[in-house]
Amino acid sequence: MELIKRPRRLRRTSALRNLVQETRVNISDLVYPLFVVHGEGIKKEIPALPGQYHFSVDLLIEEVKKVVDLGIQAILLFGIPKEKDEYASEAYGMNGIVQQAIRAVKKHYPDLLVMSDVCLCQYTNHGHCGIVKDNHVLNDESLDLIANTALSHAMAGADVVAPSDMMDGRVAKIRKTLDKNNYSHVPIMSYSVKYASAFYGPFRSAAGSSPQFGDRKTYQMDAGNVDEAIREAALDLEEGADILMVKPALAYLDVITKLKAAFPVPLAAYHVSGEYTMVKLAEKEGLIDGEKAMVEILTSIKRAGADMILTYFAKDMAEWIRRNPQ
Ligand code: PBG
Repeated sequence: MELIKRPRRLRRTSALRNLVQETRVNISDLVYPLFVVHGEGIKKEIPALPGQYHFSVDLLIEEVKKVVDLGIQAILLFGIPKEKDEYASEAYGMNGIVQQAIRAVKKHYPDLLVMSDVCLCQYTNHGHCGIVKDNHVLNDESLDLIANTALSHAMAGADVVAPSDMMDGRVAKIRKTLDKNNYSHVPIMSYSVKYASAFYGPFRSAAGSSPQFGDRKTYQMDAGNVDEAIREAALDLEEGADILMVKPALAYLDVITKLKAAFPVPLAAYHVSGEYTMVKLAEKEGLIDGEKAMVEILTSIKRAGADMILTYFAKDMAEWIRRNPQ
């Protein structure tokens, strides 16, 4: 048979494959989420997130050194408070755990980009992302607290604030609050399109942030919706978001692609805790090659259209990229 067109010709050697490779994850695409707790000398593995830890601020700094040495340029900080209450007081207290961590990290590594997750759910005793009254999560009443949380992070030195609460109007409120207080240079990365997802399970056990009643479906999105994702993103842009985000990533690759096509702005995707832990556990059982799965998954998220990826795999991926220069 006389075959003229043979796609396999370009797959014959590794160099050829590299030459024609369309999508490559770079270390600079990666954002590494880290969990910080009160205390000293703490580095405690999180059972739900194998290979991830709760760090006290002193040991967080040692971990951040490794992250920086690997060439990772950005981290995202989550705090576990000492006490939770109805109004999420530690979320916006200047001596809250995240505020302390931001100050310490920026002092030691001023060039590292420090992003902070802005939400109330880890800090409220009911585990919801806003103020609750009669079992309803109140929208407008929560905005002040959310904006104050973002401001406290900016004052501590956060380079980017990332609201993940999904209250309506929070981006506008945060933008206004930051600008009024001379933080107009701090960008907002909005968790614009955040679905009500089972894949947050391990994170909630790591952060102690499971809702104590009901679920998050009255503020996070329904998995079946994509037009609504475009509307959410458009609103956030109008309100002043600088970077959009889709979360989770793997079950929502089509949403990433559609958002990227609709809006010419930087787009982040959050490869969330459940997506990470599934790979880790399957690897532990000897069922898949975890490293290959990691590379394939992160590549697919970038190929779908994400400009940056928040992932617990950031260190592993950075190591892999260093071992496999292309
Ligand atoms: C806080 C928040 C959550 C995640 C990031 N910020 C949990 C949630 O909405 O329940 C999830 C991250 C992950 O699963 O890795 N609102």
